[in-house]
Amino acid sequence: MVNISFGFILLISATSCLGALNFKTLDAEVGPVVYVNLLFRHGDRAPIKPYPNDPYKDPNYWPMGYGQLTKQGLYHHLVLGSWVGKRYAHLLPKNRNYNPKAIRVQSTDVDRTLMSAEAHLAGMFPITDEEKWGGIDWQPVPIHTIPKALDKVLAAKFPCKKYNHEKHKFEKSAEHKALMKKYRALGNYLSKHSGKAFTGLEIFENLHSTLMAEKMNNLTLPSWTKSVFPDKISVPAGFSFATPTWTTEMKRLRGGPLVKEMVGNMNMKIDGTLDPPTRNISMYSAHDTTVAAFLNTINAFNFLPPPFASLVMVELRKTAQSQYHVTVLYKNSTDPTVEPHILTVPGCSEACPLKNLEILLKPVIPDDWDKECHQQKSTDLMSNLP
Ligand SMILES: *[C@@H]1O[C@H](CO)[C@@H](O)[C@H](O)[C@H]1NC(C)=O
Ligand SMILES: *[C@@H]1O[C@H](CO)[C@@H](O)[C@H](O)[C@H]1NC(C)=O
Ligand SMILES: *[C@@H]1O[C@H](CO)[C@@H](O)[C@H](O)[C@H]1NC(C)=O
Repeated sequence: MVNISFGFILLISATSCLGALNFKTLDAEVGPVVYVNLLFRHGDRAPIKPYPNDPYKDPNYWPMGYGQLTKQGLYHHLVLGSWVGKRYAHLLPKNRNYNPKAIRVQSTDVDRTLMSAEAHLAGMFPITDEEKWGGIDWQPVPIHTIPKALDKVLAAKFPCKKYNHEKHKFEKSAEHKALMKKYRALGNYLSKHSGKAFTGLEIFENLHSTLMAEKMNNLTLPSWTKSVFPDKISVPAGFSFATPTWTTEMKRLRGGPLVKEMVGNMNMKIDGTLDPPTRNISMYSAHDTTVAAFLNTINAFNFLPPPFASLVMVELRKTAQSQYHVTVLYKNSTDPTVEPHILTVPGCSEACPLKNLEILLKPVIPDDWDKECHQQKSTDLMSNLP
């Protein structure tokens, strides 16, 4: 009797330990990272589009133009890249030298994500004596990109009829109407002061984004923002980020392709079929919308706007028993010194066996995205392009 209850207590404490892994001791607790998918948002940028009453809409405030990365944005990615290089030094050649056998980088075809990736890689691969080539402390690293009109994975804007149908259905739902009702008063307040029409939750996302960009540039925000920014706006802004992937079907068609690619990468790493099989790191440079869609698709989104230079790490770890477990970490801060949070995919533990993760994510991974989107005609043509 005594023995049984003792064993029971031990079991419970072992389980609760698993539920609270420590970021610093993950390698010892789970096993080393043998492969990682990295997804980040670009760094600080100028507003995409100032709001009608914006005191900073004069383009002279933004010498590089709206939507462009700022020097702070470049710097934050340089420092983040250095952090990433140190964390995953064991997945890179000696002295963190650059080698195409170890890493593949892909960016959306947008100036700010391409430049963020460049700054990030400059921090990740500090030039060593043996790498010197032209008298400057920098070396080029290839960044792959696909034009927006052809990108079905990262940009996630590729037309999909079924997705549009599901989105429309959601927008008509009682759930969506309740959200709109809940935030109507705040929306009207913002609309009155900003001069922007309140037609949907996007107003929160857009204003949060513009005000944050201005704040990060040390511009003084108008006094009407004091009572609402950032805290009050960030909650409905988070919902706005989650709405494109609200239902399971929307997740599958919108966030699914990137989830499928990352899970596929991990399986190919294990099978030795990755191209090249020596690749240890796949890096994706994209947007707040990409980060939110990815996290919400795996049901691990915190419903807050992803900060500039926030980073998701999907790590494949090999346990002492030669099992493959996945840990998902989210470094959701522009400040590169802030440590990441360990995320849990609901239904699994923080260190989730890859096989279990695949079963859990099956509903949100499309078998054949083109077919499911019912767009065979227009997409067949494009998917044949190199
Ligand atoms: C990939 O990582 C392994 C350690 O898991 C390391 O031994 C190997 O050298 C790395 N590959 C490259 C190309 O750096
Ligand atoms: C804003 O001010 C802080 C504190 O003085 C400074 O560290 C930072 O570099 C400034 N940012 C910009 C974009 O000028
Ligand atoms: C980062 O994520 C954690 C956990 O979800 C949350 O508590 C925190 O407020 C987030 N920080 C930012 C800046 O979004």
